[in-house]
Amino acid sequence: MTDTPTSPTRRGLLTSAAVAATAVAAGAFAPGTARAQSTAAAPGRRMLGGLETSAIGMGVQNVHRTFTSLIPERADMVALLRAAHEEEGVDFFDCAEFYGPFAAEEILAEAIAPFRDEVQITTKFGFDVDPETGAFGGGVNSRPDHVRRAVEGSLRRLGTDRIDLLYQHRVDPQVPIAEVAGVVGEMIDEGKVLHWGLSEPGLDTLRRAHAERPLAAVQNEYSVLFRGFEADVLPLTRELGIGFVPYAPLGYGFMTGAIDMNTQFVPSDYRANTARMEPANREPNLRLVQVARDWAERKGATPGQVSLAYLMAQRDDLIPIPGTTNLQHMRENARAAQVTLTPDELAEMTAALDAIEVQGERAPPPVQEWNGAEAPDAT
Ligand SMILES: NC(=O)c1ccc[n+]([C@@H]2O[C@H](COP(=O)([O-])OP(=O)(O)OC[C@H]3O[C@@H](n4cnc5c(N)ncnc54)[C@H](OP(=O)(O)O)[C@@H]3O)[C@@H](O)[C@H]2O)c1
Repeated sequence: MTDTPTSPTRRGLLTSAAVAATAVAAGAFAPGTARAQSTAAAPGRRMLGGLETSAIGMGVQNVHRTFTSLIPERADMVALLRAAHEEEGVDFFDCAEFYGPFAAEEILAEAIAPFRDEVQITTKFGFDVDPETGAFGGGVNSRPDHVRRAVEGSLRRLGTDRIDLLYQHRVDPQVPIAEVAGVVGEMIDEGKVLHWGLSEPGLDTLRRAHAERPLAAVQNEYSVLFRGFEADVLPLTRELGIGFVPYAPLGYGFMTGAIDMNTQFVPSDYRANTARMEPANREPNLRLVQVARDWAERKGATPGQVSLAYLMAQRDDLIPIPGTTNLQHMRENARAAQVTLTPDELAEMTAALDAIEVQGERAPPPVQEWNGAEAPDAT
């Protein structure tokens, strides 16, 4: 669950990443120059409901274990998260009880301790995680007593008296959403939770949850690789005045150009179990990356930065949370806020993307079953 003395470390990788800095992002957004760039053109801030944050946040899911099952050095991850805030101005950190379970919250807590009041932290409840042991029961659990114990555990681990944004990680089809809103609302009234949101909810549940207790944000998968919510969840959240937080905004790394036909995933890698990364699907899907590469050239940016900029150009109340364990990648991602697309450019890039039919499901079937679930009506 947490680091072990025998685990491979990231220290060497972080060092070599720093040395290789100039190779990552050429032009205006090159890491070596971007400090001055960000001072000159400070990225604007954004709102999710009533919550104001940096224009780009950071996901911390992988700081305890990467997709390739590497266990990063805890000290390196603490330094990475501190650099994100202190040097790149990131103040929106996305976490969950489930990440570890518990380990990512513990690392985030250590990282932000010196500046807790300057940042917004999110966490999530909703999987059947034993609040004491962290053992995962295999499903979801949003029974109110479980939610309260989960959130009390998150507050303790995060070393804080309030969670800025608390999400239900997945809808529990056994528990009326009014009951979930009820227990979260109690914790809002107690000052332990400041805002709440849902992740991957069914549309009806989203409406009912918002009517019970207004939501600040919906967190769903959204990237140039997966644009599946553009026709429903994005317009509905806009209609209701709910912010949108795209998770896996780099398509789990795909849109950075770091994955190609030669990439061999280890079997435990989540991405190895998604149909869209199977070689027969990956090849056509890589045409999306070529679009991002073309635009990166035009913009003097990287494909990953353009991919984040594409999401941010959709609307102002949208804050991507790219995840990384790599210092150089973190800097590159944070500086994507400086890449902008005009409405004409957005339309042109959209037309190029629309011409590509994305192949393969985004998630393995058991995971997909949790997505879009509806909660029952109150009894
Ligand atoms: N609500 C949900 O159910 C849910 C589900 C998934 C994720 N999330 C949240 O969303 C956050 C982000 O998602 P994610 O981390 O799964 O996917 P992501 O942000 O789309 O991509 C992360 C992957 O891309 C790589 N990467 C990041 N920046 C890069 C760069 N500039 N150049 C090259 N490679 C780069 C990372 O590897 P390196 O470490 O080597 O940079 C990592 O493998 C998570 O941390 C979590 O907080 C939420």
